[in-house]
Amino acid sequence: MPSMLLLGLLLASSLMAASAGDLSQDFFLTGVGGQILDNGQLLMLSLDNTTGGSGFESMNTYLFGRFDMDIKLVPGNSAGTVTTFYLSSQGSHHDEIDFEFLGNLSGDPYTVHTNVFSQGIGGREMQFQLWFDPTLDFHTYTFIWNSEQIIFMVDNIPIREFKNRESEGLSYPNKQPMTIYSSLWDGEEWATRGGAIKTNWTEAPFKTFYKNFNGNACLVSSSGVSSCDSKTSTSSLSWQSQQLNSKSRRYLRWVQKHYMIYNYCTDHKRFSNGFPRECRRSKSH
Ligand SMILES: *[C@@H]1O[C@H](CO)[C@@H](O)[C@H](O)[C@H]1NC(C)=O
Ligand SMILES: *[C@@H]1O[C@H](CO)[C@@H](O)[C@H](O)[C@H]1NC(C)=O
Ligand SMILES: *[C@@H]1O[C@H](CO)[C@@H](O)[C@H](O)[C@H]1NC(C)=O
Repeated sequence: MPSMLLLGLLLASSLMAASAGDLSQDFFLTGVGGQILDNGQLLMLSLDNTTGGSGFESMNTYLFGRFDMDIKLVPGNSAGTVTTFYLSSQGSHHDEIDFEFLGNLSGDPYTVHTNVFSQGIGGREMQFQLWFDPTLDFHTYTFIWNSEQIIFMVDNIPIREFKNRESEGLSYPNKQPMTIYSSLWDGEEWATRGGAIKTNWTEAPFKTFYKNFNGNACLVSSSGVSSCDSKTSTSSLSWQSQQLNSKSRRYLRWVQKHYMIYNYCTDHKRFSNGFPRECRRSKSH
């Protein structure tokens, strides 16, 4: 029916318009000191030792989607600061997909910490350094979360893939709608060289900037009904079916070979009694 199609297109384009530009359409601020600037084109989080940290949260919850955010991290001596950008559901058996950016002394590299929780169980840390200075400019950090896998990307380069292996009895986050969260907070007790380097408050307030959020996703309303953004679902690059092709797999291997600094699946000390089952190669690979 043409009228339905038109309505669908209008709906899809309005969803896109809402998510492409104005951050105040998608998020609200939490904590103290954050600001939405330039008519919603820019969002700033700030951290100091008087007001504490700040954050933001999405107004919507999502069950699957592709989420891109351009982030410019705290420059200079950012040791002790932690910037997070993550998806999480609620409750004790929550699911969560994390990016955390651990600051460092001027000139020392940031650590990008990633984790996946399913049914309340995490402990799947992988950490990376970046092939650029993430404080000089905005870079795009992306989650692709569909029914088959989760892909973490930086500037469209995949750094980590977490496969759905439910058929092998492993759990996968695919039942609980998640909210997008971000925060800038003080993690001086553990963040930089395991807590050896403390936050230097003379340099506060620390600031992280965000822009160009794009969410192509399935929104879940409070009544539990899900509506997927149909605009991209017909394109060949749809996030719903997106998986790594041989070229992106080569990039993934390049990143993991040269920039991965921690992988729980190779931490023999921690798992001296045996690695988690998902660390074993999938039969389908
Ligand atoms: C900070 O820099 C040091 C020295 O290069 C490095 O060992 C460490 O992993 C970096 N990141 C953090 C968060 O400590
Ligand atoms: C903290 O930063 C200030 C200003 O940059 C500097 O003078 C001071 O030495 C730093 N303190 C520490 C403990 O590094
Ligand atoms: C915040 O940090 C500054 C710089 O180190 C210090 O002078 C000030 O006393 C601190 N304020 C509080 C409330 O801790």
